[in-house]
Amino acid sequence: MKKKVTLTGITTTGTPHLGNYVGAIRPAVEASRQENNRSFYFLADYHALVKNQNPERFRQSTREVAAAWLALGLDTDQSIFYRQTDIPEIMELTWILMCMTAKGLMNRAHAYKALVAENEKKRAGDPDKGISMGLFCYPVLMAADILMFKANEVPVGKDQVQHLEMARDIAGRFNHVFGNTFVLPEAVTDTKTAVLKGLDGLKMSKSYDNTIPLFVPEKKLRKLIMKIKTNSQGPEEPKNPKTCTLFETYQAFATKEEVLAMKDRYAAGIAWGKMKQILFEYLNDHLAEPRRHYQSLIENPEYIEKVLKEGAEKARAHSVPFLAEIRKKIGVQAIGG
Ligand code: TRP
Repeated sequence: MKKKVTLTGITTTGTPHLGNYVGAIRPAVEASRQENNRSFYFLADYHALVKNQNPERFRQSTREVAAAWLALGLDTDQSIFYRQTDIPEIMELTWILMCMTAKGLMNRAHAYKALVAENEKKRAGDPDKGISMGLFCYPVLMAADILMFKANEVPVGKDQVQHLEMARDIAGRFNHVFGNTFVLPEAVTDTKTAVLKGLDGLKMSKSYDNTIPLFVPEKKLRKLIMKIKTNSQGPEEPKNPKTCTLFETYQAFATKEEVLAMKDRYAAGIAWGKMKQILFEYLNDHLAEPRRHYQSLIENPEYIEKVLKEGAEKARAHSVPFLAEIRKKIGVQAIGG
C-alpha cells in the first residue's frame, strides 16, 4: 500500500507563540514521529514576502520559526523539513498553475475579498488599493506547494480550508486539460486541538498583540502569565473553569488527572494569584528544555541551515522529476525530441 502523504506549510512571520504550538506545531511534531505516513513540513517564506518586505525581519523570522520547530522535537529523519525558497520547482509550477486558474476563482478568495470590502468601506476610490498580485495569487502558490508533493492530507486551520478547495479546483482543471497528473488534496482541520486564548481572553494571535511567545526568558513568562485577564471573583469564591483562560491554557498541557484535580480546586475557590503561579510553574517546566534547545539552535545558525539544506535535497528528489513530467505533458520539450 502506498504511504499517505501529509504536508503543511508554516508562514514565517513573527515569533512563534503558545497558540501556534498547541494548534499547529505540537500535532505536527507528533505526526512527524509516526512511521506509517510520509510527511512534508516547510517554511513558506515566499508566502511571508506578501506581508513582510523588511529583509532583516524576513531573515530573522525564517531563523526563529525553523529553530522553534526543531527545538520542539520535529523528527527530521522521518519527515522532510525544508524551506520553500530552496525548491525552485515550486515557483515554476506556480506559473503553470496560474495559467490553469480562473481569475474569477481568485476574486472569490476570502482574504482578498475582505481587503476589497475594507477599501470600499473606507471609500478608498480604488477597491484594489494596496493589494499586490502576490496577495491576490497567494492561493496559487499554496496550490503549487501542495500539488508538487502529491499531498493527500493537509492539516490547516479553518481559515485555510478555502485555499484547499482552490488547490483541488486548480488540480482538477490541469488534470482535465493535460491528463491525470495531480493528486487532489484534502484539508484536515482537527477539531480536537485547542485554540488558545491570549492575554485579553480573545483568540491568541499576533494580530491582536495578545500572545505569549514560546521562548521568552522565565521572568518574562511569569510576567505575561500574571497579566492574563480573569474576572473579579475573590479568593475562596467557587470559580467556573469553563470560561477561564488560565484553566484552558492549563488544560492544553496537563494530563487528564491533573485537569480533574484542578477542576476540584476551582470548585473549592482557588485564588487567581495562586492559579497563575501554578500555571506559570507548569508551563515553565514544560518549556524549559525546548527553550534551552532553542537558544542553542539560534546560536548555531549553520546547523539550522544544514538541516534545511538536507531537507531541500530530499524534497527535490520528488520535485525535480515530477516537474520534468509536468513540463512534458504541457509540451515543453526539446525541439524534435
Ligand atoms: N497559508 C498557510 C497559512 O497561512 C501557510 C501555507 C503556505 C500552507 N503553503 C501551504 C499550508 C501549503 C498548507 C499547505 O497558514
